[in-house]
Amino acid sequence: MDFKQFISENTWTKSEVSESHYVIDKNAAHSIRFDLFVAHIKTNGIKMRINDKSIPAYVDGDYYYWVVETSGRFKHTIIHRAYIISISEYVNPNAYDNLFQDEDSKMENAKLSEMIGQLEGSVLDVGCGTGLLLELKDIEDYTGIDASPLMVQKLIEKFPNRKHQVMICKAEILSKSGRKYDNVIALFSASYIQSPKAFFDLWNGKGKMFLMFYKEYYFPFTHERLSMFVPYKNRTMAELQVIFGEESVKAFNNYYIVQL
Ligand SMILES: C[S@@+](CC[C@H](N)C(=O)[O-])C[C@H]1O[C@@H](n2cnc3c(N)ncnc32)[C@H](O)[C@@H]1O
Repeated sequence: MDFKQFISENTWTKSEVSESHYVIDKNAAHSIRFDLFVAHIKTNGIKMRINDKSIPAYVDGDYYYWVVETSGRFKHTIIHRAYIISISEYVNPNAYDNLFQDEDSKMENAKLSEMIGQLEGSVLDVGCGTGLLLELKDIEDYTGIDASPLMVQKLIEKFPNRKHQVMICKAEILSKSGRKYDNVIALFSASYIQSPKAFFDLWNGKGKMFLMFYKEYYFPFTHERLSMFVPYKNRTMAELQVIFGEESVKAFNNYYIVQL
């Protein structure tokens, strides 16, 4: 079924919860198409974390869609849709992947894989993007999170069997959930996370922490090539040493790597 028709023929009203969300209530919609679209979102959605719940979100065009059901006396099923707003969500995953097919990038990645070494137990891939860590390592107990629905969608396209192991979610939000992992890895992505405290909140200390921060004065190549700006924070070695310990930080190409 083509849901574009359902999407366009119904009136989306502004949600009371958030300025950027629009909703369709089952009572106000074409009933058969509504139920089919709900089923479609639930079956084909990518896991997305909202508040303290993980629910399926279906990404289509400029929007993502999810279902909220209230139980009890006034049972309601509502489809929410939100515009893919933040610039980080707009990173074009295909263009991103195409940037790193050259020999230098491949060598840099191989070196990173060697530095990470063996990973045992659960692995959290923070800012998983289109799945570089999965290209480098064979990980069974894997969880990938990324703020960008489009990047997560591309990862699933490349690694369909990982669909239930990835989630559209900001690290800052997951860090408040109390969930902890044996290994926390952030390849090329640690500088996008507002506070390094999030990494400690997500780690149980049993395995490894491997984080890549942009060096001071480094302007990311991806931003230049893809004409985009995603807020990030350059770090100094001294600053990272205070947070993670002197022995844990080393310089590598344009990055400071934290290894615990
Ligand atoms: C430079 S890419 C790295 C992707 C992948 N790790 C790789 O090495 O190819 C940075 C990724 O971090 C994601 N990101 C940015 N802010 C984030 C946040 N607060 N929480 C989770 N992911 C975030 C972006 O959407 C993007 O996919």
